[in-house]
Amino acid sequence: MRTIGIIGGGQLGRMLAMAAARLNFRTIILEPQSDCPAAQVANDQVVAAYDDEAGLAALAQACDVITYEFENVPVSAAEFLARSKPVYPPPKALEVAQDRVTEKRFIQDCGIETARFHAIDDQAGLEAALTDFGGRGVLKTRRLGYDGKGQKVFRGPQDLPAGAFNELGGVPMILESFIAFEREVSIIAARAIDGTVSCFDPAENIHRNGILHTSTVPAALGAHTAETARRAAKALLDALGYVGVIGVEFFVLPDGSLVANEIAPRVHNSGHWTEAACVVSQFEQHIRAITGLPLSNGARHSDCVMQNLIGDDINDVPAWLARPHALVHLYGKTEARPGRKMGHVTWLA
Ligand SMILES: Nc1ncnc2c1ncn2[C@@H]1O[C@H](COP(=O)(O)OP(=O)(O)O)[C@@H](O)[C@H]1O
Ligand SMILES: [Mg+2]
Repeated sequence: MRTIGIIGGGQLGRMLAMAAARLNFRTIILEPQSDCPAAQVANDQVVAAYDDEAGLAALAQACDVITYEFENVPVSAAEFLARSKPVYPPPKALEVAQDRVTEKRFIQDCGIETARFHAIDDQAGLEAALTDFGGRGVLKTRRLGYDGKGQKVFRGPQDLPAGAFNELGGVPMILESFIAFEREVSIIAARAIDGTVSCFDPAENIHRNGILHTSTVPAALGAHTAETARRAAKALLDALGYVGVIGVEFFVLPDGSLVANEIAPRVHNSGHWTEAACVVSQFEQHIRAITGLPLSNGARHSDCVMQNLIGDDINDVPAWLARPHALVHLYGKTEARPGRKMGHVTWLA
């Protein structure tokens, strides 16, 4: 085992490649954009579209194991690669995570609570579903949503304009019941090839404009709630026959019970804190899992807060660097567009 292929060239691929290098693995990135954040720190790049069979074949030929850094890798591409090399996490995880309806059904089948939901295919379906939820709910595109994009919140019957279905593009959608949560948490967990599961501590997440702003560890959770999150993550990992790191997002209700929101079959933004506050980060944990190395137990040596540097926040880097106990991590993106993740900083308490 020497070379790891990574599909996707963003910051998550970049941090995976850096973690891989520390354990003497080579990495090759498959990504259509050259000089992408991941390729800047990897050994090589295959410049090709995610569904380009010639590019995928070249990647498979050069690698011993293949992973990915985003959940919209075409399932057909993952299955194509899996015919010649191990692909971790398994393609089934992509299939489940790419469609919010499939995802919610899968989570429920694992015995885990989710919001109630209706699949929505037209305006009439949307109106019927909203009526069922008393006019309140969160409408999301079933596919390709991220950072709160492709979503609309209905706070009451007055919020339903006639063209609401077409407003989000007229594509298949899901209406979820509105969860009046007290806080949002996530858990980053890993499963090894031999089925061993290891969890990091849950993080408490605050979003701004749909984008993760901070993750704080420890989260203000009772021991029972934290244990429930761990057990839920393990159930999901086992059901998928998963190998690698997964992120699971939850809503916490006032009574401490958990409602699962979504899963990400990859390293996750709300796990970036692990690089500063754990001996082994989520990135190294993923590399260990997919290469058959022993997992870390996920232990945390410090309390911390991770904050994303979005767009112009990049200008604050000198101030962050001057602050004690703060670890700055930048992603190699030249242009600071609004809403673009440029880096993050984790400071230890
Ligand atoms: N059913 C819901 N009830 C209340 N708030 C929600 C619901 N679904 C999503 N949200 C809010 O919107 C945010 C983004 O939704 P999410 O499903 O996580 O999509 P994304 O893929 O964009 O992260 C969540 O973190 C939460 O704050
Ligand atoms: Mg989310």
